[in-house]
Amino acid sequence: MKVIRSKAAMQRLADRLRSQGRVGFVPTMGFLHEGHLSLVRVARKRCDSVVVSVFVNPTQFGPEEDLEAYPRDFGRDRRLLGQEGVDVVFRPDAETVYPDGFATSVLVERLTRGLCGRTRPGHFSGVLTVVAKLLNIVKPDIAVFGQKDAQQALVVGRMVRDLDFDTRIVVAPTVRERDGLAMSSRNFYLTPEQRRQAPVLYRSLRLARRMVRDGERDAASVKLAMRRLIRRESGFRIDYVEVVDTGELQPVRRISGRVLVAVAAHLGRARLIDNIIMRA
Ligand code: PAJ
Repeated sequence: MKVIRSKAAMQRLADRLRSQGRVGFVPTMGFLHEGHLSLVRVARKRCDSVVVSVFVNPTQFGPEEDLEAYPRDFGRDRRLLGQEGVDVVFRPDAETVYPDGFATSVLVERLTRGLCGRTRPGHFSGVLTVVAKLLNIVKPDIAVFGQKDAQQALVVGRMVRDLDFDTRIVVAPTVRERDGLAMSSRNFYLTPEQRRQAPVLYRSLRLARRMVRDGERDAASVKLAMRRLIRRESGFRIDYVEVVDTGELQPVRRISGRVLVAVAAHLGRARLIDNIIMRA
């Protein structure tokens, strides 16, 4: 497994890999867990070589967010990726990605207004700009993203379509702990007590699914029941509980067809998100 820090070296190697077969790419911010590794396995299955990037992207963190505290352990990441048979790890530093004079940013309209875009202004432009750069550097045939960050996956897919990137976006299912908590590098922030409380987010999504299965179609009733369930655990500060359509992420009043039910909440130092897609 090669570890590459320079853009030029990555681009040269990417050209060679692409001439030899299909290239799969998994962008990450490191501190890897089974969720990330599941994406690597999807890429490996579908492609001849796999590139993983490890870069904590400063431009997607707000001024009050956890950029400094974000957990990092490259030694461990490297070992895990080696075990997965990854061919190349691209690990640039911030000056390489954003050299002096950097002035461009990518914006996807509408889809980024609600959900995480509402309380994290600028977040998705930071994500899209770095993903656009990484796709241009690695030039993969496919790039794999997790359903755990549903809005991110959708927004990246829209950018790729709108700007004609020659890469297919593949979305892989959310990997969970045994008690249902969606795996996340940020779970590391939770105290043992908070870790015990955190799975209520997934339980609230399952409650939504049950209510809809039992015939409930009013989104407000579903959201209220979810909020009540989450509030039974102390310490959560709910950011949003939403039911939206899966195309444009607009809130729905009546649940019909395919909808995305999504939650975000702060618990201690962590901001946790989760979602499910269901069909009424
Ligand atoms: P990061 O949070 O490290 O996540 C990297 C990828 O792993 C994303 O596609 C994310 O959706 C996926 N992922 C995280 N937890 C998952 C889980 N429990 N199950 C399945 N997939 C999971 O998302 C980012 O980094 C950044 O925004 C990035 C795209 C790298 C741009 O900086």
